[in-house]
Amino acid sequence: MLSGKTVLLGITGGIAAYKICELVRMYKRANANVQIVCTPNALNFVTKLTLQNLSKNDVAVEEFDIKKYNPEHISFADKADIMVIAPATANTISKLANGICDNLLTSIACAFTKPVIIAPAMNCNMWNNPIIQENLQKLHYTILEPETGFLACGYTGKGRLCSIDKIFDKTVELINYKPLNGKKIVITSGGTIEEIDPVRYISNYSSGKMGLALADTAKSFGAEVVLITTKDVTRNYKVVKVKSALDMQKAVEEEFDNADCVIMAAAVADYRAKNIVKQKMKKTSDDEITLELVKNPDILKEISNKKTHQIIVGFCAESENLLENAKTKIVDKGCDYLIANDISRKDIGFSSDYNEVTILNKNGEVKKLERASKMTISKQILEEIYG
Ligand code: PMT
Repeated sequence: MLSGKTVLLGITGGIAAYKICELVRMYKRANANVQIVCTPNALNFVTKLTLQNLSKNDVAVEEFDIKKYNPEHISFADKADIMVIAPATANTISKLANGICDNLLTSIACAFTKPVIIAPAMNCNMWNNPIIQENLQKLHYTILEPETGFLACGYTGKGRLCSIDKIFDKTVELINYKPLNGKKIVITSGGTIEEIDPVRYISNYSSGKMGLALADTAKSFGAEVVLITTKDVTRNYKVVKVKSALDMQKAVEEEFDNADCVIMAAAVADYRAKNIVKQKMKKTSDDEITLELVKNPDILKEISNKKTHQIIVGFCAESENLLENAKTKIVDKGCDYLIANDISRKDIGFSSDYNEVTILNKNGEVKKLERASKMTISKQILEEIYG
């Protein structure tokens, strides 16, 4: 079931760590290559020798115990098909939720772009602590919730590691879940940069997070991904860095013919400076100056007009009358789907790790997705398109 696949198994310092030996055996029986990474505390509950014998691999613990040229947290992250963190303690969950990379396991998880499963296990009062629940909400991973029962600390409540079978089954399901196999998906992201002179430009608040989450999700669903972005991104799929709307248009056109789907999550400037001044513009005695702008091409509208077989997906960023404007825009831009988001809110949209969107399709159907991480929203969008 897992032949040719590498499972990166993260073990953290909780009593349930002893149960993970059986999970390693199950992965091995399914022919997986199992690379184990422990936090230092995990080794208080299970020995390195046991895990090495079961996994037939070295067990990594220390971040700076580098034997090879490649930094381990990056090379482990690149090689594995999935990361499973079990048991996941409250401490590790909170670090992951806040981007703290103070050991090898948390550093790898932070650099990991493929599916991650976490199976929390802890005392029931820790599990019910609102801080832990809030941190869990921040993670865009598949969370296998703990079970209710008698806990090692003597309490009875929710906190017991879910069954090993459940972790194994979810691993197999996610590793083999490739609904976009054979599809080429082109995604744009980030705000375009329209130069005025060598030091000044017009742009917007788009961080590129929404487009990047879509690209990572499409990749994990098996698609051939091309991300056209104004941001610096390194990934194991094709990334084309662009600056202006005109650059973006050229890059989209180059990828368009054999694409199956184009998703325009980028915030493209509607106008650019009529003339880009070659030298830095000097301050003058005038209190006002006029900057002449010309219209940029509407990339989305143009590709919708010339589509053959492609599915065209636009985004729309609105600060008022979201649905009304989105309904007009999907018709005007002629796309198959339009994902509308409210950029007046601080807790979603621009720069946030979260979004809340409404999906419109060309048949007039409307579907609202509740606020969730951009990874979760991406998964839901791709499932809606290819569902
Ligand atoms: O990048 P993040 O910080 O994660 O934020 C995500 C986001 C809010 C930028 C994203 O979710 C989003 O809404 N992107 C579209 C922003 C936008 O340009 O909206 P718009 O309503 O102005 O344009 C509608 C559509 O036309 C978009 O798909 C846009 O890419 C496209 N367009 C716009 C102008 C233009 N000249 N050419 C285009 O192709």
